[in-house]
Amino acid sequence: MDGTLQVKTTAHPETDALTVDALEGLSQPQKTLSPKWLYDHTGSALFERITQLPEYYPTRTEAGILRDNATALAGLVPNGGALVELGSGASVKTRTLLDAGAHFGAYVPIDISRDFLFETAEDLARRYSALTITPVVADFTGPVALPPTLAQTPKVGFFPGSTIGNLVPERAQALLAGARNWDGIEAFILGADMVKDTHDLIAAYDDAQGVTAQFISNILVRLNREAGADFDLSAFAYRASWDPELARIDMALVSLRDQSVTLAGEVFAFHDQEPIHVSAARKYTPQSLALLAHAAGWEVATRHRDADDRFSVVVLAPRD
Ligand code: SAH
Ligand code: AVI
Repeated sequence: MDGTLQVKTTAHPETDALTVDALEGLSQPQKTLSPKWLYDHTGSALFERITQLPEYYPTRTEAGILRDNATALAGLVPNGGALVELGSGASVKTRTLLDAGAHFGAYVPIDISRDFLFETAEDLARRYSALTITPVVADFTGPVALPPTLAQTPKVGFFPGSTIGNLVPERAQALLAGARNWDGIEAFILGADMVKDTHDLIAAYDDAQGVTAQFISNILVRLNREAGADFDLSAFAYRASWDPELARIDMALVSLRDQSVTLAGEVFAFHDQEPIHVSAARKYTPQSLALLAHAAGWEVATRHRDADDRFSVVVLAPRD
């Protein structure tokens, strides 16, 4: 028998929101686009390719930490409780926890990439027949409404991948503070990538095969298709750089000449070498991670890490 899959669908408001957001971001003195728009079905599939790249150490390092500590981490979820994952994507690493969590009652994958989320949830429902799987399409940069059917169910939050690092610090704090207020929340498992050698960081975000460049450029493909823009993809190049003060990798698309682009009837002028900032990936130290958790109403109960301290999986406990 297949597991229970509870799918709630809503209308498609994304295209309008994408256009409004892009118009605003491209009107700024330093042009920006939000990384959340990277993830249509193609973007989600490209990210899965990134996770397999030799240079992209975060996924396999975190996967190892989860495997090494699977029993302890799965044991945080009480009998019949729910694991609630933010930015679940293909839920690949999650399966390590689900495999160790035969006592889980429900799994709630939350993601903005609708079709990819539903495909993943269907696959998981086939694999985990005893589990109730309730996918939620939501943007976690705003308030996230959890399934009302699970209001009384004890919960553990799970936010792997260092996706927290893609949020500006205020948003990261707001997200963790929001989770602190979920009904029945008992703990939060957070994956975070650590500050390390600049060369390794740049390589992870500017791979030799150009998959990351394709992933970031996909936002322009999406704007052309969904927002009626006319970006010439050959006139923009991907660039990754490390900002030591903000402890983050910046990912930008740089205009290769003076040009103008039209989006929803608005004309945007670009000068040669002008960047569009698309994403940032913040890297942490044990101290900066603890500060972030503390500011959001949590404390770091345990920090699991790999032998080289490249990546951390921290267990956050509610702070009184
Ligand atoms: N957790 C997986 C995937 C990480 S990729 C892993 O660790 O490998 C980041 C995921 O977050 C993607 O699946 C993307 O669709 C989702 N995401 C990005 N921004 C989001 C937002 N604002 N709201 C909800 N999901 C978002
Ligand atoms: C999902 N997120 C944590 C990835 C990261 O490492 O910032 C997204 C990514 N962007 C480029 N490469 C990977």
